[in-house]
This record gives sequence, structure tokens and C-alpha cells, in this order.
Amino acid sequence: MADKDGIKVAKDYHVNEPFANMGDFHVKGANALDWGMKKHLSRIFDPQTGKTVMFAFDHGYFMGSTSGLERLDLVIPKLAPYVDVLMATRGALRTCVPASFRNGIALRVTSGSSMLNDDLSHEVVAVDIEDAIRMNADCMAVQTFIGADGQLSSIDNLSRVINAGLKYSIPTLGVVAVGKEMERTDRFFKLATRILAEMGCQIVKTYYCDNFEEVVAACPVPLVIAGGKKLPEKEALTLAYNVIRGGAAGVDMGRNIFQSPHPVEMAQAVRKIVHEGLTDKEAYEFYSEATK
Ligand code: 5RP
Repeated sequence: MADKDGIKVAKDYHVNEPFANMGDFHVKGANALDWGMKKHLSRIFDPQTGKTVMFAFDHGYFMGSTSGLERLDLVIPKLAPYVDVLMATRGALRTCVPASFRNGIALRVTSGSSMLNDDLSHEVVAVDIEDAIRMNADCMAVQTFIGADGQLSSIDNLSRVINAGLKYSIPTLGVVAVGKEMERTDRFFKLATRILAEMGCQIVKTYYCDNFEEVVAACPVPLVIAGGKKLPEKEALTLAYNVIRGGAAGVDMGRNIFQSPHPVEMAQAVRKIVHEGLTDKEAYEFYSEATK
């Protein structure tokens, strides 16, 4: 067993010092990657701003039909022009998203649980690398359960996907899952995001928390932040503003966009924060005006 005694708690994150190894590429931690990886990452992170608005609608992979996503074929075409990346299952993409759409694709490749299970932490890799290549996925999303019952199998899943992705130059997006028994503390997110980056993920998806700047500073790859449960629009825009101000490379929002009464205007408002530097107040003014 590894010796945990005597390990000191990290404390100096140099939050005001930019990442030192950017080189001439716009994505954190990607300077040494090959051309194919960089090409995919450039479809996710806008080379002009270095940031991304990812739209997650992969909820059906364990929730089935979700409020706001009852008809993917009707909802997604309306939102696609306002987001950089569509994050979804292969079933949703193949059936409901025209291949003519030019968005980046984050392909959910793990599954194994449903709303009917108490413990959601046991998944398998459900999509072969060959299918990710056929779908021209720009990254493969793997749910990862640090500190949960399924930690070992999810790290095994993650390793397999990263290894296959490195072989064919497809980035892996490690998704930090928060189990019922886990607290949403900076301590937990520093641990989980760093483990995923050190495993070899090129992007990590996580949640906002106190001391978020330290979580960002300690993670050598870009963080994209989930929206989580539906909030009033004003609060969701403040969340987006805080994560960008805290150093995230973007958002990967689902419910706070597709469960809004005005999803298109909400996506546009989020975009203005992420790519145009608007404050949450300015973005909410835009949203209010656009939905009058
Ligand atoms: C689940 C996911 C989902 O895609 C994501 O959490 C959904 O986004 P939101 O929380 O904003 O609805 O990765 O782990």
C-alpha cells in the first residue's frame, strides 16, 4: 500500500501566474501533442479566444427522456448555431443531428447505469475507438468516479479510452462525477481533476467550487464546467461568469440551457460571457432584452 503518511497539504498554487508551458498553442497542456490532437482541440477551443461553449445533452444515457430534451430532433438544430461543441451519445448524434452541422463533437463513450440504480458509479466503455473515428469525434467523454465504489473500474475505463485516443490522436474528456456521498469541496475537485489530468486526459470536466482558481491552477489541462441542476437564468449566468473569471476554459452546460424557457437566448447569453467578455450583469441584460 502506498505510504500516505507525511504527505503535506499543497498550498501554493501561484494563481496569478499563467500556465508556463503554453508554447504557441492556445490550449493548456497541449503544446507537446501532435497535429491531429491539436486539430481536434482547435474544433473544441476557439483559437481566437482559447475558450469553448460546449452544450451537453447526453443526459439520456442514464436518465432516458429528460425535461427539455423530449425531442432531440427539434431542440438540437435550434441550439447548434450558438454552441461550439455538441456533447452527446452516438445514438443521439446519429439519429437526430445532421452530419452537415459543423460543431465539434464530444462523444460520450461510457455507460452502464440508469436512474433506477442507487449507485451510478459502475460503467463500461460502450463505444469502440473505431466508431469514435467513424463519427469524427473531437473528444471522447468518460465518466470517472474518484472516491466512489466504482473508482477502480472507471479508472480502468478511462485508461483504455486515453490509450486508444493517443493511438489515433483523439483527445479524452474526463468527466468528474460527484457521488451522493461526496462533498463539492475544492479539496475533492483538486484531487479528482488532477488525477484525471495525470492519467492523461487532455480536457477535464468538473464543477465550480470555492477556491476555484486553485483548482484551475493545479490542473495542467483545460477545465470545462458543468452547469448542474437548473438555476434561475440570472444565477446560471453568474455561474458562467465566475467560472470564466476563475480561469476555466469554458462551460459544458446542459440543463441550464435546454430547460430554460428561452434556450436559444440563454445559449447566446452564455456565449457572450465565454467568448465576448461580458459580465454576468451584461449577459443577463442581453437575455432579458432578447426575451421581452
Ligand atoms: C454528467 C455529464 C452531463 O453531460 C452534464 O453534467 C450535463 O450538464 P448539466 O449538469 O449542465 O446539465 O457530464 O456527468
